[in-house]
Amino acid sequence: MNRYNGITLDEFIILKEKDYPDATGNLSKLLRDIGVASKVINREVNKAGLVDILGAAGAVNVQDEEQQKLDVYANNMLINYLKNGGQCTGIGSEENEDIIAVDTEDGKNAHYVVLMDPLDGSSNIDINASIGTIFSIYKRKSNKGLCNLDDFLQEGNKLVAAGYVIYGSSTMLVYSTGSGVNGFTLDPSIGEYCLSHPDIRTPDTGKYYSVNQANYSSFPTHTRRYIDWLVNEKKKGLRYIGSMVGDMHRTLLKGGIFMYPATNSAPEGKLRLLYECIPMAYLMVQAGGRATDSKREILDIIPSQLHERCPIYIGSTRLLKRVDEFVENFGD
Ligand code: AHG
Ligand code: MN
Ligand code: MN
Repeated sequence: MNRYNGITLDEFIILKEKDYPDATGNLSKLLRDIGVASKVINREVNKAGLVDILGAAGAVNVQDEEQQKLDVYANNMLINYLKNGGQCTGIGSEENEDIIAVDTEDGKNAHYVVLMDPLDGSSNIDINASIGTIFSIYKRKSNKGLCNLDDFLQEGNKLVAAGYVIYGSSTMLVYSTGSGVNGFTLDPSIGEYCLSHPDIRTPDTGKYYSVNQANYSSFPTHTRRYIDWLVNEKKKGLRYIGSMVGDMHRTLLKGGIFMYPATNSAPEGKLRLLYECIPMAYLMVQAGGRATDSKREILDIIPSQLHERCPIYIGSTRLLKRVDEFVENFGD
């Protein structure tokens, strides 16, 4: 029994802070703000079938994808909490073309920038399947004042925290500040996240692989051969929700591999380096797994653009080692 078992997220964050003698409490406050915003989003997700909040909002985001109403809601909610919380100097969101610099006095003096995919897996909203929120936190590189784009374009190795919330059969918040990964389940009767999955460790292999198999014919040769090997030699089962948070949550807990490789029409893959790949890679590495783009460790990549995309192979170490071998043997 872990000494923290069952305690609330807020208590856990405070207790953890004591492990860092130099901690100022600012990061803890920021994490708590994200936790509260996610509870408000969760409330809307839960009643999505009851009110006119389902369906498209009629706008497209910077990736030319149709924005869903809940995407807009989640984005606005997180931005509000982050702007008002006083610990965040800037926000980069999948749903906003440019960075949002928090221009209050607190914001200009704050130390952290937050990047987020406010609602991931939006194609699953209408069918009541798992969706999520992904976030990551860096220390700003600039000094005080308005933040700038450079503060956001940092490699994953520089993260101070990352996590996701999964709005699934139960709602969970999973996060890391660089000393392991912990998962909290929302207890709706008290409205608190309670520690349910202390120190998550990803098994070094797993029963499932996860990929959009419809794209198989346009994957690189190494990936096609690798999938053939998973299916024919290793008899792995295919599991694919189409929501990265859902597919990643299974992979983190049970092992296996999740892939979104390059395709002919999307040579950089589909998923966003800063909002999806880096935070998930950080969590997977913290849990003992690995994440690459087939050539580089995801956490070593230095982003050059806010909305940059990146292929991803993420999961159990033994399955990732095989990816390396297929890349070496089959090239691109
Ligand atoms: P988002 O809803 O934030 O745009 O992300 C959707 C992403 C990700 O969650 C998932 O892994 C992937 O899109 C699924 O893409 P395909 O439908 O191409 O498989
Ligand atoms: Mn997403
Ligand atoms: Mn999204």
